[in-house]
Amino acid sequence: MTLLALETSCDETSAAVVRDGKILSNTVSSQIKLHAEYGGVVPELAAREHLKNLLPVAQAALREAGVSPAQLDAVAATQGPGLAIALLVGFKAAQSLAFALNKPFIGINHHEAHLYSPWIYGEPCVADFSKFQPNVSLIVSGGHTLLVLVAAELQHRVLGGTIDDAAGECFDKTGKLMGLAYPAGPVIDTLAESGNPRAYDFPRPLLNDLGDDFSFSGLKTSVRYFIRDHPALLDDRQKVCDLCASVQAAIVEVLVKKTIRAAQRHGVRCVTASGGVTCNRALRRELARACERHGLTLHLAEKNLCTDNAAMIGILAERKLQAHRPLTDLDAEIQPGWALS
Ligand code: KG4
Ligand code: ZN
Repeated sequence: MTLLALETSCDETSAAVVRDGKILSNTVSSQIKLHAEYGGVVPELAAREHLKNLLPVAQAALREAGVSPAQLDAVAATQGPGLAIALLVGFKAAQSLAFALNKPFIGINHHEAHLYSPWIYGEPCVADFSKFQPNVSLIVSGGHTLLVLVAAELQHRVLGGTIDDAAGECFDKTGKLMGLAYPAGPVIDTLAESGNPRAYDFPRPLLNDLGDDFSFSGLKTSVRYFIRDHPALLDDRQKVCDLCASVQAAIVEVLVKKTIRAAQRHGVRCVTASGGVTCNRALRRELARACERHGLTLHLAEKNLCTDNAAMIGILAERKLQAHRPLTDLDAEIQPGWALS
């Protein structure tokens, strides 16, 4: 089966060609620079940029894969969740292409696709489910922080999520308070490598709560008050590095401990993680250490597949089609608020 997938749920325009579990191409055009001056994603600008870039990105993906539209067996796109006017661009384009080619169309839940990106690896990039084990999956990005129990392929249950800010949002907003450029997550990651994570003590929200929910807005507020009370600190580069390392340590400790605890409580031997924040070096290191200590297998999405991409949409779409899951109607609409259940 050869399938074209499109992803435009937020600020990445992406197209991928997938054939029998293999990623033949995965083209991503990021809008980060465009939104940086506004300090966050502006939906109207994102949609206009998707409109401008989608065709060139899709053409590049087809070219790289050596596949013509006539050779496609199916078309897929992200149906939700995401920014409504951004989703519309990729979803409607994919539906139109499927209609024109008279091929099946399938709409995909973006978060469900994140559950499978940790199983895509190697060179050439292949989705390898032969080692699949029931797992607890951490999806951690700028908009979401979710823990999901994946009992079997295509069978999952959300255990918990953030009750306020997402972990990526906490990185970005605390970084903004420090005067760092948007998105601050990668900048904090870099500065933290030269900092002392024990220099300043920040709260670890809901760490001792036995449930699987997260909360990061209190941590953000405590960084705000800390900077208000110590403004001179921002003029000292080493202290900024220490601050970054300390904030990062608080976020990472909560993410790691709650993920491991959920895996233990649900009796699974495997942990997976994806989403932009999974690029964070401290998170990758600490998850690896904790999993080793507790005898758990860890599958982290490769860094280029942590952030939003159409390859994961294509892989999930192909698995669903192979499992004879119902197709999406050609007149179906986007679902911007489509929560994973
Ligand atoms: O998954 P993603 O590309 O987009 C969505 O939010 O859907 O994630 C972007 C988020 C941003 O908040 C960004 O700051 C964060 O991921 N991020 C990181 C790192 N790389 C990206 N956070 C911490 N450390 C990083 N290295
Ligand atoms: Zn995502």
